[in-house]
Amino acid sequence: MLKRVWFAALLLTLGMIGHCAVAQPTIELTIGGTTRSFSQDALLARADTAEIHVARDIAYDGASSTYRAVPLANLLDNAALPADSVLEARATDGFAAQLPMDLVRNRDPSQAVAWLAVEDPAHPWPKLRGKPVSAGPFYLVWVGKEAASERSEQWPYQIARLATQPSPAARWPVLAVDPALPATDPVRAGQSLFITQCLACHRLNHAGSADTGPDLNVPMNPVEYFQPAALHRYIRNPASVRDWPGRVMPAFAPDQLSDREIDLIVAYLAYMAQRKTGR
Ligand code: HEC
Repeated sequence: MLKRVWFAALLLTLGMIGHCAVAQPTIELTIGGTTRSFSQDALLARADTAEIHVARDIAYDGASSTYRAVPLANLLDNAALPADSVLEARATDGFAAQLPMDLVRNRDPSQAVAWLAVEDPAHPWPKLRGKPVSAGPFYLVWVGKEAASERSEQWPYQIARLATQPSPAARWPVLAVDPALPATDPVRAGQSLFITQCLACHRLNHAGSADTGPDLNVPMNPVEYFQPAALHRYIRNPASVRDWPGRVMPAFAPDQLSDREIDLIVAYLAYMAQRKTGR
């Protein structure tokens, strides 16, 4: 009897060791409050996993790449969500993209279609330039005719969590502009660009999910201490203003952010400098 108990304990221990040895990073997916977790192997084994070709791979400097990937829309089910909901993609390094739900649910290849690329542990991806890690284990990529129209910060890599959320302006009213501003006011266009390209790393008025860069309104807004030309230049290419080995902020190529769009973002920043929130 004692022997049997001992044997069972041994099996249990071996089982635990075995389990640890195969423990894989997982991605957490929360849709309307329900959370599921997937390992790399579980996603790679799905019947809808396919080999896809990415013509211009943002994380790998625009190279062309091939991935094993799952159509993101298949993971998102059809839960009814408010029209302006987003899918928040949080990376292990504090980056947090806000992706419009209608965009990530699209399946029409004449537009951009989102796929969740999964790194196969048996065939690791190359390291990112200047970093000791790859874009894996989970990386959101775009294919389809309009893939190139997805901006650079809408390609989150090293994703740990995907979760549906209300639109950023509804979730964080301190990001909002005066409702009385006309729909065509450039500050509104700047706000929407800021949410796509900057909020993924920077908070503003303490609002946002990212932990990567500094808050861009409090205590001080960059328009209060940068000369205008230097600020424009910094947003285009931070290294052209100051550089060091630990720099994180990326440069934006003109096809990701035009000069006019940088000016719109700066207009939003200048506007928000007059709308600081406390603390
Ligand atoms: C991938 C993350 C990332 C993105 C995207 C990003 N930034 Fe940054 N940014 C940083 C980090 C981190 C710093 C701090 C300096 C560094 O480490 O490079 C920074 C610094 C800055 C600074 C200098 C602040 C100071 O006082 O030193 C400004 C201004 C700025 N960012 C504006 C922007 C704007 C505007 C956008 C959107 C167009 C943007 N950033 C997008 C990560 C990012």
